[in-house]
Amino acid sequence: MLTKEYVTELKHRGNGDISSLINSQRDVRSINFILESLGHLPENFNPNFLYDLLRHNHSQVRLNAVKNIGKLNGKSDIRSLFNLYKNETDTNVRREIVSSIGRQRNPANKRILVNFLQDKDPKIVCQAIRGLLVFEKDNEVKKYLRPLVNHPNEMVRTIIYKEYFSKDNKNKNILPHTQTYNFLKNVVINADVLEALKVVPDESVHLTFTSPPYYNARDYSIYPSYHAYLEFLENVFIETHRITKEGRFLIVNTSPIIIPRISRAHSSKRYGIPFDLHPLLVKNGWEFIDDIIWLKPEASVKNRVGGFMQHRKPLGYKPNSITEYLMVYRKSTEKLLDWNIRSYDYETVKKSKVADGYETTNVWKIDPCFDKVHSAVFPVELCKRVIQYYSYKGDLVFDPFAGSGTVGKTAKSLERMFFLTEKENKYFEYMKSKDKNQNLFDNVKTKFLTLEQFRKEVSK
Ligand SMILES: C[S@@+](CC[C@H](N)C(=O)[O-])C[C@H]1O[C@@H](n2cnc3c(N)ncnc32)[C@H](O)[C@@H]1O
Repeated sequence: MLTKEYVTELKHRGNGDISSLINSQRDVRSINFILESLGHLPENFNPNFLYDLLRHNHSQVRLNAVKNIGKLNGKSDIRSLFNLYKNETDTNVRREIVSSIGRQRNPANKRILVNFLQDKDPKIVCQAIRGLLVFEKDNEVKKYLRPLVNHPNEMVRTIIYKEYFSKDNKNKNILPHTQTYNFLKNVVINADVLEALKVVPDESVHLTFTSPPYYNARDYSIYPSYHAYLEFLENVFIETHRITKEGRFLIVNTSPIIIPRISRAHSSKRYGIPFDLHPLLVKNGWEFIDDIIWLKPEASVKNRVGGFMQHRKPLGYKPNSITEYLMVYRKSTEKLLDWNIRSYDYETVKKSKVADGYETTNVWKIDPCFDKVHSAVFPVELCKRVIQYYSYKGDLVFDPFAGSGTVGKTAKSLERMFFLTEKENKYFEYMKSKDKNQNLFDNVKTKFLTLEQFRKEVSK
């Protein structure tokens, strides 16, 4: 019977016994079993039969042959592997060829590895990069690899960025991860967010939670076109990315909206804001993490299904929208979350630990909230969850579209700090009035600033 022990014994004889054993096998499974049992290859191992197997018509056999040739460290016949690559159609065999050549760590193979950088399969390109990075200091290798930071594939771009570009950024003059600037702590600014952010330094906020104005849905959000609206949000989240600390989170609350028809002769138009915004965020360095659904009671939303209930005609179905999205993103980084967490001292981690009863699913059932002054406020419970799950005590939480200031108020109650911008004077004044009554920001002194005053504070 064919056993691993028997294969190991023959392998050490080194006189072609393995080759005879393979030739005597009738079925492909046994050939693969032998090839997969070979393990480390001894010095006196005769590999010739492996090269014959590169012509085998079963791809798994070719794959195993390539893997074993790769183990011959410095003695592999790279030309045979390269010739096979040129005609090979099986993806796994092709990738294994590149990996086997890379594993030789032989400077003589650099040219061949460079050839693989043109391959259409991004995994092959990544394998070739790995093989070439053994010689990362070599100027010629650098010349081939650095331009791949613009490669169409994101995996390739990430490897190259991490290797050659993120190191260039290491000396940036930024604060330690857990700290921020005093002029941003518990501040509300009455200004267009893009104007205010112009003076905010890089990497200064720990979390952003916001609900952007809806496209033409309310009087505070009039844009010349949907394209202009998306472009505005894109710019806000590019700037938010810049001021966000490495590896920290952005949570955007959005939902599709409907613009009512202008007359009976026209249809209403629905805009999929979350779906149109998503690619813009990802393109600008926000890594998608999760989609959380905010589920509201049906009685609390506008009734759209009424007409259908009468006529029941297919195509005319319009369900009541009882959900909104919380789109969760992380500022792209090569660092693991563990790196972020380890930046905090033991006490802060302990104090910030999320208590029992936390939400375990991505469907959050929360009643909406109504306010006498602002028509689209966050429920406090929604803010509480986001702030507790995505920030530590003492962190700075940012809301570019503050409205009535629910994010600030909740951040304060959870021992975080806040930085808010709000364009409309009436909502800014509303936040201010609530602060006077000591029920918006409790006992902490909040600064309410115009843009000019804020600029002065920053430049002090
Ligand atoms: C959906 S509301 C946010 C409500 C808020 N989440 C709350 O709980 O009260 C969006 C807010 O963004 C503000 N806004 C719109 N465009 C802005 C801009 N360019 N800069 C700053 N604020 C803006 C609007 O005035 C509105 O109050």
